[in-house]
Amino acid sequence: MRFLSLRLIPLSTIFLAQISNGLYLLRKRATICNGHAELCDRPYGNTTFLAAHNSYAFSRDPLALARDQEVDVLTQINIGARMLQGQAHMKNGQLHFCHTTCNLFDGGLVFDYLRKVKTFLDANPYEVFTFIFTNPEQVSISDVWKPIFDQAGISPIAYTPPTRLMKRGDWPTLKELLDANKRVIIFLDAGADGSGGGTVDFILPQFQMVWEDPFSPTDNEFPCKIDRTDGPLANDDHLHLINHNLNKNIVPWNLGTVLVSDFLNAPKTNAVSSILMHANNCAPFSQGRAPNFVLLDYINIGQTAQAVDKLNGF
Ligand SMILES: *[C@@H]1O[C@H](CO)[C@@H](O)[C@H](O)[C@H]1NC(C)=O
Repeated sequence: MRFLSLRLIPLSTIFLAQISNGLYLLRKRATICNGHAELCDRPYGNTTFLAAHNSYAFSRDPLALARDQEVDVLTQINIGARMLQGQAHMKNGQLHFCHTTCNLFDGGLVFDYLRKVKTFLDANPYEVFTFIFTNPEQVSISDVWKPIFDQAGISPIAYTPPTRLMKRGDWPTLKELLDANKRVIIFLDAGADGSGGGTVDFILPQFQMVWEDPFSPTDNEFPCKIDRTDGPLANDDHLHLINHNLNKNIVPWNLGTVLVSDFLNAPKTNAVSSILMHANNCAPFSQGRAPNFVLLDYINIGQTAQAVDKLNGF
């Protein structure tokens, strides 16, 4: 007769984590956080994340002028994207991710997109994600956005801060977010402050907590200034995002302006040197700190993950 051999896991490394109301599962404590042991004790507000601009707007077709990415969202995530950005519009009564208008580029249902990301989250429980979605039509937060997060299974793992507005220095560490299994931070640029029909505790008002430098930059020197922010917290208490997605005007002789993402220069734009230069340009506006979000087009081109590793001190 053979004896069962039990491999004992030290009790200190597992604990009961609440999955949803009344449901608990044994969970192993996080020891590798977003791919690095060193990031476990790093506060969220002191971490730099690789961010995919218009993450849903991908195409391999160079003539798809409204594209901002070449590869789909799961490939972006595998490259290292941990902040996903998208622009939402209503179409036939449903929320889609579309670039400018749904006639120009329809990236499909927000729900389908979130389900796809959720498959990655389920398979990778030690990854903290951020969504910064734009809501140009001020679609209702409580009636439209929340049910989509609920149905996609994101709401139970979305982080609700202890106070509505979190200062940059007050965020938990990645390990704390992971051990609580509250590892998705959700910002909307408009409507989340109550102006869009009610508030939802885990849908946070971006510009009250995250400032950005100018969007749609066309200068490859990436001059920085605080462009979009909204009180009441001081700018120093905000997280910050650099718009490092270079655009070019395709109207000849500058007779007008139609900006498209500059694909041909993507290898230069997404080089470590260009990203670090931009981060440095913003340092005077952020007490010398690195950006929290490096927003890029074509994140499969260049050294995007390496640049973010450098900003994190690796
Ligand atoms: C994190 O803190 C270190 C040390 O103060 C700093 O050099 C770095 O820029 C900070 N990063 C972010 C994203 O705040």
